[in-house]
Amino acid sequence: PGFNQGGMGTVPMNAKGENPRSVQHWWPEVVDLQRLRQNEQIQDPLGEDFDYAEAFASLDLDEVKADVAAAMTDSKEWWPADYGSYTGLFIRLAWHSAGAYRSGDGRGGSDGGQIRFEPLNSWPDNGNLDKARRLLWPVKQKYGRSLSWADLIVLSGNVALEEAGFKTAGFAGGRVDDWQPDLVYWGPEKKFLTSSRFSKRPGQTGETPQELQETLGASELGLIYVNPEGPEGNMDILESGERIRTTFGRMGMNDEETAALIIGGHTLGKNHGASKKECIGVEPAAAPVQAQGFGWKNSCGTGAGPDATTSGLEGAWTATPITWSANYLENLYNFEWRETRSPAGAGQWIPVNADQLEFVPDAFDPEKFHPPVMLTTDLAMRYDPKYGAITKKWAENPELMDQAFARAWFKLTHRDMGPSARYAGSQAPAEQYSWQDPLPAASTEVINASDIATLKDAIRSSGLSNSDLVRTAWASAVTYRDTDLRGGANGSRIRLAPQKDWAENDPGMLAKVVGAMEGIAADFNASSPRNVSIADLIVLGGAVAIENAAKASGHSVTVDFTPGRVDATQEMTDAKGIELLRPAADAFRNFYSAAARLTPTEMMVDRADLLNLTVAEMTVLIGGMRALDANSGGAKHGVFTKAPGMLSNDFFVNLLDMGTVWAPSASEEGVFEGRGRSDGELKWTATEVDLVFGSNSELRSVAEVYAYAGGEERFIKDFAKAWNKVMMLDRFDVK
Ligand code: HEM
Repeated sequence: PGFNQGGMGTVPMNAKGENPRSVQHWWPEVVDLQRLRQNEQIQDPLGEDFDYAEAFASLDLDEVKADVAAAMTDSKEWWPADYGSYTGLFIRLAWHSAGAYRSGDGRGGSDGGQIRFEPLNSWPDNGNLDKARRLLWPVKQKYGRSLSWADLIVLSGNVALEEAGFKTAGFAGGRVDDWQPDLVYWGPEKKFLTSSRFSKRPGQTGETPQELQETLGASELGLIYVNPEGPEGNMDILESGERIRTTFGRMGMNDEETAALIIGGHTLGKNHGASKKECIGVEPAAAPVQAQGFGWKNSCGTGAGPDATTSGLEGAWTATPITWSANYLENLYNFEWRETRSPAGAGQWIPVNADQLEFVPDAFDPEKFHPPVMLTTDLAMRYDPKYGAITKKWAENPELMDQAFARAWFKLTHRDMGPSARYAGSQAPAEQYSWQDPLPAASTEVINASDIATLKDAIRSSGLSNSDLVRTAWASAVTYRDTDLRGGANGSRIRLAPQKDWAENDPGMLAKVVGAMEGIAADFNASSPRNVSIADLIVLGGAVAIENAAKASGHSVTVDFTPGRVDATQEMTDAKGIELLRPAADAFRNFYSAAARLTPTEMMVDRADLLNLTVAEMTVLIGGMRALDANSGGAKHGVFTKAPGMLSNDFFVNLLDMGTVWAPSASEEGVFEGRGRSDGELKWTATEVDLVFGSNSELRSVAEVYAYAGGEERFIKDFAKAWNKVMMLDRFDVK
C-alpha cells in the first residue's frame, strides 16, 4: 500500500488511440451483454473433449507434491528465496488467489486460475506473485493440461504448509482453468489503493466508516482484504479489527476462522519493504513487452533478495519463518508493541524493547537477527475484544489454533469449487462441511424410464397448474451460481428454511406444490424398490408442465429429464449460507426487490451470467416464462398473451407489434403500460426487463427470431433446451 498506484487510465489504448470502441463507450447506459457473450464462446485450447477432473485424478499426487517441494527450495538468482525456501511466497500466492472470493455473488476465488489474468495479476496487493508463478512453471510444464494453474497454485500453498511441518486437512483438485479474465465489478474507485466504498453504519461509534458496499469483499480497490497499516493507512488497531471483520465476513468467514487464517498465514514468511517506493516499476500489465509479463521491477540495489520490496512493510512475524510454530501468538501476547516505519516508510509495529528482542533470523544473512514485527491488522488479533477472546485461548492451547487453521485454510481454498462431487484426487478430507452444502447419498437405485412415465401421470392428475409447476421448478433451480457452483435444484432445499419462506417463492403456492409432490413420492416409494426424491419430482413437474403447455398450443415437445437428485435435510443446510444465494431480483419471474444493487435489466444480465446463459438462452427463457404465466406473485407484467399458461411465442410477437405504444404507468413505479396505437385501450403491462427485448438493438435482434412467422416451433424447442440446461446446472454427479 502506498506503492504501485497503478497505471489505470494513464496508458493509451494503443499508440494512436485507434482501437474500436464499445457501445458503452458512447452510451454507458446501454446494458453490456459481454458477460453473456463470454458464456457462449468459451475457447478452451485444451480441446472440447478433455476431461480435466479425470486427468487430474490420474496423477500421482505425491509425485506432484514432491516436485512442488523441490521447486520451493530451488532458489533462483532472478528471485532468491528468503531463508532458502519460497514457503511464505507460495502460501501468499495460494491465499491471494483464493482470497479474492466473495460470498455475496460467488465471484473471485481460485477456480479458473484468474490470478493469472488482469486485473488480478496486476493488482498492487498481488505484487511479486508473478515471480511465484514463474517459479512454479517447470511443475506446470511437466504436468501440462493434467494440472491446472488453479489447482497448482492452491496445491503449492498446501505443500508449503506441509513442508513447514503443518498438517493440513487435505487437498482437492478439480479447478478448471479459464482462458480469459472474468468480468467482475471490483469496486467504484478509478485508482488502485483508494476507497470510496464505505459509508457510516447506522449507530456505529468509531469515526472510520464501516458499512461496505454490497458484494464487495475488500476495503480498497486492488487489495485482497484490508490495508495492513490500518483503515486508509491510519494505524488504528480497533478500527482495523472492524474492517477485518467486515471484509472477511464478506467471504463468509466468522471471527474464529478469520483469526486462524491471519495467525496461521503470518506464522510463516516475511514482509518485503527494503527499498523506497521510487525504486519500484510498473505492474505487469503496464510493463513493456521485453519484461515478458514481469512487473514491479525494482531498480534499487540488486532489486531482489535482501532488496526485495513488495508491500513496503518489512520483517517477519516469527522466529520460525519456514517452520510451523506457535511463535506468532507467543510474540503477539508476550510483547508490548510500538509504532515504527519500515525502510520503505510504511507504518508497522515492533516490540517496545525491540533492541533486546533480536531473535528473528535474517532472510539471507545467517549472522544477522531482527526483532519480530506486527502489522496493525495483526495487533487487532489481540486488541479487538472478540478476536482477543479467541486468540488468548489459542495462545494457551496452540493445538486448538492448529485445528482451527486447518479447517479455515481448507475452506478458504476450496469454497469456490462448489459441492464435494467436484473434488478430484485422493487427498480430499472425508469430513463434510456445512459450507459445501452437502447432499446425502441416494438410498436406492435411480428411477428408470417406466418409473418416470408413471410419475409424470401422477403429476398430471395432481391438479397442480402448469404455472405453479413451472414457477416451483424454476425457483428451485434459479439459486445456482456458476461463480462458486453453489445453489440449484439438487437437494430440494427449496422445501427447507430459509428458501421456503422467501416471498418471491410464493410460500403458500410452494407449500401446496411441495405437499402434493410429497404425496406422490410417498405413494410411489411405498411400492417401488427405486425411490424418487422431491428434488427430482419438482424438476419433473416443470417438464410435465412445459410439455402440457406446448401441447395446448398445438406443439409436441419432450423436455429432457435426468433423474438422480437427492433431498437434503434441514440439519445439513447452513441457513445463513443459503441466504446468500437469495436472488435480489429474478427477471425470469419478473421479480425485483429493494435489495437489488443494479437496475432491473442489469440484474437480469447478472442472473443470466450466474446461470451461465447465453444471450439467446436468456431471451428464450424470458419469453417462455412469460407465456407460461410464471411471474412471482402471479403478476401479469410481460404476460403478453391471451392464453397464459400455454407455451407460445406470443411474448415476442406482441412485444414487437407496432400496434402497441408504451408509456410509463402513472400510478405504479417501474411499470409500463402498452396501449393500442389507434384506440388507446390498455392492452398489456410490463416492466423494464420485458421492454428491453424490444428496445435494446442486440436483444431485439434475437427477439425477432422468435417472433418470425412460423417461428414457434423453433422457440419451443429452444425454450425446452434452455430450460433443461438450467435444471442441470448443479448436476456435478452426472458425467
Ligand atoms: C505477507 C498483509 C492475511 C499469508 C503479507 C504481507 C502483507 C500482508 C502486507 C507482506 C507482503 C510482502 O511484502 O511480501 C495481510 C493482511 C491480511 C493478511 C492485511 C488480513 C488482514 C493473510 C492470510 C494469510 C496470509 C489470511 C494466509 C492464510 C501471508 C504470508 C505472507 C504474507 C504467508 C508472507 C509472504 C512471503 O513470505 O513472501 N501479508 N495478510 N496473510 N501473508 Fe498476509
